[in-house]
Amino acid sequence: MKHSIANPFPWFKKMTAESPVVYDTDYEHFFGSKGTWHVFRYDDVQRVLGDYENFSAEYLPKVEESPLTKALTTNDPPYHTKLRSLVSKAFTPKAIEDMKPWIEEITNELLDKVAEQGEMDIVRDLATPVPIQVIAKMLGVPYEDREKFKYWSIILIKQPSEVEGGIEGYFLAQQEMGQYFTEMITKRQKNPTNDLISHLVQAEVDGEKLSIKELIAFCILLLVAGNETTTNLINNSLLTLTENPEVQEHLSQHPKDIGKAIEEALRFRSPVQYMTRIAAKDTQLGGQLIKKGDLLNAWIGSANRDESKFENADQFDLHRTNLRHTSFGHGIHYCLGSPLARLEANIVLRILLERFKQFQLKFDRPITMNPTALMYSIKELPVVFQKR
Ligand code: HEM
Repeated sequence: MKHSIANPFPWFKKMTAESPVVYDTDYEHFFGSKGTWHVFRYDDVQRVLGDYENFSAEYLPKVEESPLTKALTTNDPPYHTKLRSLVSKAFTPKAIEDMKPWIEEITNELLDKVAEQGEMDIVRDLATPVPIQVIAKMLGVPYEDREKFKYWSIILIKQPSEVEGGIEGYFLAQQEMGQYFTEMITKRQKNPTNDLISHLVQAEVDGEKLSIKELIAFCILLLVAGNETTTNLINNSLLTLTENPEVQEHLSQHPKDIGKAIEEALRFRSPVQYMTRIAAKDTQLGGQLIKKGDLLNAWIGSANRDESKFENADQFDLHRTNLRHTSFGHGIHYCLGSPLARLEANIVLRILLERFKQFQLKFDRPITMNPTALMYSIKELPVVFQKR
């Protein structure tokens, strides 16, 4: 049995039972390396994500053209600790809460455009523009640059092989973004405003500030880490609601349960399906010897369907009591943007269900997926609905 992008779950189930930690010589990582361990069980996945002494996050080849090698996600302590405490200072709960009215406004504006037609493509009309506009606003990107910003963020979520110009085109986009953010950062250093870049420029730990390269890496990381992920959460939640009309109806009547539905959707179709690590030393995992330098894919999507943790794991259950999915990671790299992602998904679902009802898939055919195993990423989600 092989991994299927649209329905990886039977593969997860089989592997969790029969080969929970297994080496795959043919697997090709997006950064060009070949061969990886696949890790499927919940406890093993959490260990790989959390045990940074054995499983390092520094798996990207250190190439000068890629500012992302200086980013938070792809570094271990002590460098990670310093970066994380600096950026956490700018990423406060208050800053997130302040975005609320603005996210409501964007969502309503986008829905106004489709309200009369009674149908929309959730991906194109809602789930893609909301997170991009939120990140752009957070960072303080001027309105007239939105299109450029969107163009880059679409390139960054592709595999380099899918980008025009291949790996060179991929790095070129990172270089262009580097130049763009350098200008923005220099402006904010001279004249700070109330945006995230200004806060990041000013943040200090033990008298140390972020360097310009670190600032650029963080801005690019936010585009990668914050956009496609949240887009997928919104898409996957909506798909799940079309499959469960009674849940849709329940949530319209009881909007306070929307938070629970989002947690269960995060577990049921995890937006990020796996994260990569590299073994820092020889170590044992699930009865296998992992050699220093081996790459590992910790399958979050599989951990969240592990029957030993989640009873009837293949059922979407609004009233599930164990909500300890691992969709936002585990340990020191736990998602910094999780409160924002939850807030965005919550606002979008609440407004959708307040304004419309009876969401159904427009066509009776399988949904189309983007060609990536990294994310559960729906390509198009045409739905029809009724106005309230
Ligand atoms: C549903 C939406 C999201 C999901 C499923 C998600 C998932 C994740 C996961 C699994 C990690 C851990 C990576 C690892 O262990 O290597 C992570 C880290 C991170 N996420 Fe998210 N994320 C989401 C939204 C966001 C948003 C909206 C932002 C920011 C605006 C964000 C910013 C970050 C950052 C900065 C990190 C790195 C933290 C570190 O390395 O210390 N994420 N995310």
